[in-house]
Amino acid sequence: MQAPAGWSIVGWVAAVIAAMFAVITWQYGLGEEGLRVVLRATARTSVTLFLAAFVASSIRKLVRTPLTAWALRNRRQLGVGFAVSHFVHGWAIVSLLRLGFDANPLTLWVGGLAYVTIAAMTLTSFDRTTAWLGPRAWRGLHTGGVWYLWIVFAFTYVGTASTDPFAAVSFVALIAALGIRVTARRRAARPAH
Ligand code: HEM
Repeated sequence: MQAPAGWSIVGWVAAVIAAMFAVITWQYGLGEEGLRVVLRATARTSVTLFLAAFVASSIRKLVRTPLTAWALRNRRQLGVGFAVSHFVHGWAIVSLLRLGFDANPLTLWVGGLAYVTIAAMTLTSFDRTTAWLGPRAWRGLHTGGVWYLWIVFAFTYVGTASTDPFAAVSFVALIAALGIRVTARRRAARPAH
């Protein structure tokens, strides 16, 4: 079987998340418990897709395999897949707030700004909108945006890493991804002999 490529990746991501959502809400319902499970599950699908898009071009500079070529070719779609997953996280947050969940204002501001960033990055991930924005502004938005999202993920997962193995693995993966980006950058800056 061939790996999905191009925009079909976003369709596959949406289908997997819809199936995951159906199983969770069937098992736990749509009250606070179910919404919290949806939040934790979508955080997992989001961090996985985010990391794939975050390292795609750096890892290709360090490791040349068919998998890294695939990730590089499809990094935009992996990023939009992350946005699909994280908008379901957003939907669960709004539903929880409507049930009376009291979020800390700092979380709402930092998280709200992250959602504005994700929306702006998603809207400028298509050929026409990329051309409309221009290369400098596009690079500023997408580079600043991914680092901001990296910080939000890292701070969220480091908080629960001591009690939750998935959070610990995610935090280590986020640090490793940072290492991959820095190494690829340094290697590209090194003069050729
Ligand atoms: C206003 C915005 C946000 C609010 C109010 C919010 C709230 C929540 C809540 C209530 C949980 C479930 C906690 C639990 O029951 O265990 C959760 C999980 C999580 N959220 Fe968000 N979130 C927001 C935005 C974000 C953003 C933008 C990111 C990442 C870019 C993010 C990453 C995570 C992660 C990684 C988890 C899983 C934590 C764990 O499993 O230990 N959240 N969030």
